[in-house]
Amino acid sequence: MGFAASTSTTCLLFLLLLLLPVSAVAQTNNGRVEVGASLTANNDASPWLSPSGDFAFGFHQHQNVGVFLVSIWFDKIPGTTKTLVWYAFENGSPVLAPAGSVIQLTGRNGLVLRNPRGEQLWRSDITMDEVGYAVMNDTGNFAIRSRNSDLLWQSFDRPTDTLLPTQIVEINGRLFSRRSENNFSQGRFLLSLQDDGNLVLSAVNLPTNLVYDGPYYSTSTNDAANYSNSGERLIFNESGEVYVLRKNNRRFSLATGATLLTPTADFYQRATLDFDGVFAQYYYPKRSSGEDRKWSTVWSKPDNICLRVGDKGSGACGFNSICSLNENGRPTCTCPPGFSLLDPDDKYGSCKQDVELSCRDDGGTAEEDLYDFKVLINTDWPRSDYEQFQPYNEQDCQTSCLHDCMCAVAIFREDSCWKKKLPLSNGREDSGVNGKAFIKVAKVDPTPPSVPDIPDRVEEKKQGTLIITGSILLGTSVFVNLALVAAFCLGVFSIYQKKFPIILTKLDWKQR
Ligand SMILES: *[C@@H]1O[C@H](CO)[C@@H](O)[C@H](O)[C@H]1NC(C)=O
Ligand SMILES: *[C@@H]1O[C@H](CO)[C@@H](O)[C@H](O)[C@H]1NC(C)=O
Ligand SMILES: *[C@@H]1O[C@H](CO)[C@@H](O)[C@H](O)[C@H]1NC(C)=O
Ligand SMILES: *[C@@H]1O[C@H](CO)[C@@H](O)[C@H](O)[C@H]1NC(C)=O
Repeated sequence: MGFAASTSTTCLLFLLLLLLPVSAVAQTNNGRVEVGASLTANNDASPWLSPSGDFAFGFHQHQNVGVFLVSIWFDKIPGTTKTLVWYAFENGSPVLAPAGSVIQLTGRNGLVLRNPRGEQLWRSDITMDEVGYAVMNDTGNFAIRSRNSDLLWQSFDRPTDTLLPTQIVEINGRLFSRRSENNFSQGRFLLSLQDDGNLVLSAVNLPTNLVYDGPYYSTSTNDAANYSNSGERLIFNESGEVYVLRKNNRRFSLATGATLLTPTADFYQRATLDFDGVFAQYYYPKRSSGEDRKWSTVWSKPDNICLRVGDKGSGACGFNSICSLNENGRPTCTCPPGFSLLDPDDKYGSCKQDVELSCRDDGGTAEEDLYDFKVLINTDWPRSDYEQFQPYNEQDCQTSCLHDCMCAVAIFREDSCWKKKLPLSNGREDSGVNGKAFIKVAKVDPTPPSVPDIPDRVEEKKQGTLIITGSILLGTSVFVNLALVAAFCLGVFSIYQKKFPIILTKLDWKQR
């Protein structure tokens, strides 16, 4: 009894002693993080908080269970999925930390992230100086400073897709959109403050990162004739205004037309380049109750992303898709009739034809019997034309497309007819389009009905797969494989005697 009690007391003391140095370097409530402090990736790890508790730095559970992102988020906003404002990001992907990974503030390299095996996954790129401490600032900026308080590294200098009040983007600074709402990989859109001072939104080609010409939004704050008139910085100021500051100190505000001015004391604010390509400023009431518990838009750019076209790329939606603006000013993507999503989980992705149209000989079947047209009003893909007829009438337009095996869609407007080929790009549905789209779809599924398998052949296929899979899994010598396969077959033989010849055939085949 006494022995047990003293043992547990000793254990407790020992544990406390073990814990002491940890709590000694743990964060105090001024947002300061001392050298040596660390966080471990697991579900109930408490993050490093800013003094007000508005922002947190730590591990946030990724959509894949058991994987975490090193990130900064609005901590007081309720809900399990936090709004991330920054995450460690490298080569087009978020840094994924498996459960049990540790991030530590080190004296030499600042933040260092290691997986449970101790291998380095990521670190803050500090080379020169000795780290003194770090601060999770109430602005949402995580800053690492030297012993003399010189700034060595800050999250504000490495934005991902979001800017916060007091954050500044310098010339050549960029934001990348995410792949989708819950996929933090690099998406198809880019915001950049070009070296000519122009702030642009452009589509990028992944994975090469080639920026397609023809931005879909621009502040036009470049002025080759008058240098002082050119943009120098993108500023999200303390009172929540987002503007390009020109060299002559004049401002180009992105909020033009937005009526709402939101004092930062009452609202959380952010400006995000969303996965759908829209750059928007949002606010969230700090003392929110019930209904207004959401991010609302102050302004968004461009006004209608569906109408913006580039020479290359698919546009706001994927290829063959149709973009229309919803009531919140955001793009919705739909596949035309006869098409469906290439990736059913990616609503914003490309669409494929359910039945591919082809130019092969259909044995003299008239096109009239093979194809039909579905009509869409006010829909167009302005960059996919290969022929135009004028003057022409609607019926001739359809007929011409019907008898042309290259023609996927015909557009008729006024007295003009355009024939279009796949893949269609920059599709949009908008009242300004003012025309009709004729989508050519197959009347019946022309693929030959599949010949039903005779039962024995089905069996043969299955068992062949079984054996091959087995030998791949074992990955040992041919002899061992054969021996095991033989043993397996003998077992099977005793159960299904009549199937033996089939398996034997497979064995022969394997040996060859
Ligand atoms: C937080 O950031 C603001 C603005 O940059 C700065 O004035 C303040 O000193 C920072 N706080 C800490 C604790 O570093
Ligand atoms: C995110 O998107 C990328 C690119 O499409 C893909 O390779 C990756 O698997 C996706 N990640 C998740 C977690 O779905
Ligand atoms: C440059 O622009 C500024 C402000 O727009 C103007 O005051 C100035 O006269 C211009 N300079 C020249 C050389 O055009
Ligand atoms: C932020 O920018 C707006 C618009 O330029 C300006 O009216 C406001 O005074 C600025 N606020 C601060 C704190 O500088």
